Amino acid sequence: MLGQGGSVTSIRDFDRDEIVNVLAVAGKMEAGDHYGLLQGKVLAIMFLEPSTRTRLSFASAMMKLGGQVLDFGDVEHSSFKKGESLSDAIRIVAGYCDVIALRHPWEGAARLAAQIAGRPVINAGDGANQHPTQTFLDLYTIQKVCGRIDGLTVGFVGDLKYGRTVHSLATALSRFDCRQVFVSPPSLSVPQGLLKELEEAGVEHEQSEDLRGLLSSLDILYCTRIQQERFADSMEYERVKGAYRIGPRLLAECGVKDGLRIMHPLPRLDELSPALDETPFAVYFEQARNGVPVRQAILAMVLGKV
Ligand code: CP
Repeated sequence: MLGQGGSVTSIRDFDRDEIVNVLAVAGKMEAGDHYGLLQGKVLAIMFLEPSTRTRLSFASAMMKLGGQVLDFGDVEHSSFKKGESLSDAIRIVAGYCDVIALRHPWEGAARLAAQIAGRPVINAGDGANQHPTQTFLDLYTIQKVCGRIDGLTVGFVGDLKYGRTVHSLATALSRFDCRQVFVSPPSLSVPQGLLKELEEAGVEHEQSEDLRGLLSSLDILYCTRIQQERFADSMEYERVKGAYRIGPRLLAECGVKDGLRIMHPLPRLDELSPALDETPFAVYFEQARNGVPVRQAILAMVLGKV
């Protein structure tokens, strides 16, 4: 179980019971006022990639529990610009705080940091690899809006190659009884290693380019942005950008379930029409808000206060 001194580097480290436990603690955080629980504790936010939701919801979570936040700030103004290594920087920052939330473009950066920090390290996104705290808030949202996780068909659409939120959530859902559907252009399909993992776990899954043909079977549609910043070849991005555009008309034409819920880790570009925002399908803003109680739970757990 996640506890004092533990790091959160990959959702692969969590079995079903551990996931359910984090969601239960998040529920308690949302239901009550726990100000003072992390009084005297310092969270270092060390983000070497852009962020709005993860950065601010970590800060909000820490402040709501009475802790302090030390923000590393913009990488351009840090000593990385003088050539400092990640391992040296982690050792230094660890000396100033009790827990580190790290976002870094390198896959495996959080795992490396956790090995040397001597403090809990929480992976706030490592390249195209994993985003485990996003996954906890995604599962928390699914449980809240659907009343359950088991028995659902979850469709992922968009950039399934580089989308770390997709990779983490697909792994986490494999701990539950869910059917998974992956919709993307062939060049952005879900990594083979993840498919193998799902096959080994006996997960019912399907891959397609055709969103229209699959929409009516979904309980959750998990949309993602096509991540221009991760393409080595800008022409390849031009070929796939705007591949899927989801709006009320498409949903009506495809006869989706009334209970369909649309999620998105955000930010969005043109894949989700703002015309969906006020419909019952849209849960992406609620999803983003759920980042606060979920991150409160994770911070309290790794600091041994739950
Ligand atoms: N969902 C998410 O990770 O958003 P940010 O990049 O804004 O943190």
